[in-house]
Amino acid sequence: MHDLKSQINPEKVPQHIAIIMDGNGRWAKQKGMPRVLGHHSGVKSVREVTEAAAQIGVKYLTLYAFSTENWNRPPAEVTALMSLLVETIKGEISDLNKNGVRLTAIGDIEALPAATLKTLKEGIEKTKDNQRITLVLALNYSAKWEILHATRLLAERVKSGELNPADITEAMFEQVLSTHGIPDPELLIRTSGEARLSNFLLWQVAYAELYFTPVFWPDFGQKELFEAILSYQNRERRFGRISEQLT
Ligand code: FPP
Repeated sequence: MHDLKSQINPEKVPQHIAIIMDGNGRWAKQKGMPRVLGHHSGVKSVREVTEAAAQIGVKYLTLYAFSTENWNRPPAEVTALMSLLVETIKGEISDLNKNGVRLTAIGDIEALPAATLKTLKEGIEKTKDNQRITLVLALNYSAKWEILHATRLLAERVKSGELNPADITEAMFEQVLSTHGIPDPELLIRTSGEARLSNFLLWQVAYAELYFTPVFWPDFGQKELFEAILSYQNRERRFGRISEQLT
């Protein structure tokens, strides 16, 4: 474990890592347990991975905690996930503050159940001055929703005569995404063996390195995070150029 960490080049640690936490249900099923216990175990991974990321200098960690499509799950599971979020945020605030973790969220959060929204806003408010790492929870998030929402905001400005369509730039578009102010992730991890983006950060991952691992989210911890970072550091990021042009 220590050995893995010492192999990480501190100069090339991604500023922002995004994770699609997948496989909680299958992890639980494999053990003959109800799915919701998989989500409970998933919270342990959230804690361990956040701390490990902060330790090596990652500044932003975005976790896909609940997608717009997740409302289609059985109602009991949706309710359990919402309660777990409330419980977890309430229970973790003092540890988040001790460890310098600032909590924030992306997605259509105003449409979350009132209790979830209230706790989330409290968590965001109470951790807003922390600077070691920002933990971004994607909640009621979908990238297509986000892009549409951004388009509507810009269209309003065009309609009011304030903005000319020809003057719309990438930077301006980024300003109206829910991730405004957050650098794009350099590394996107998905657990549980699925190789899909599932409507997550489609704009922001344009140049991200993608890392897929068969490990289920509840089994993903510090060691697995460091392995993903080492894989990332061994890749050559060319951004459309050729090898010889990179210094
Ligand atoms: C994916 O596994 C997991 C989710 C949709 C929920 C993730 C939520 C948590 C880990 C808890 C949230 C807590 C915080 C504080 C972020 P799955 O249910 O899709 O697994 P499956 O594909 O095996 O069915």
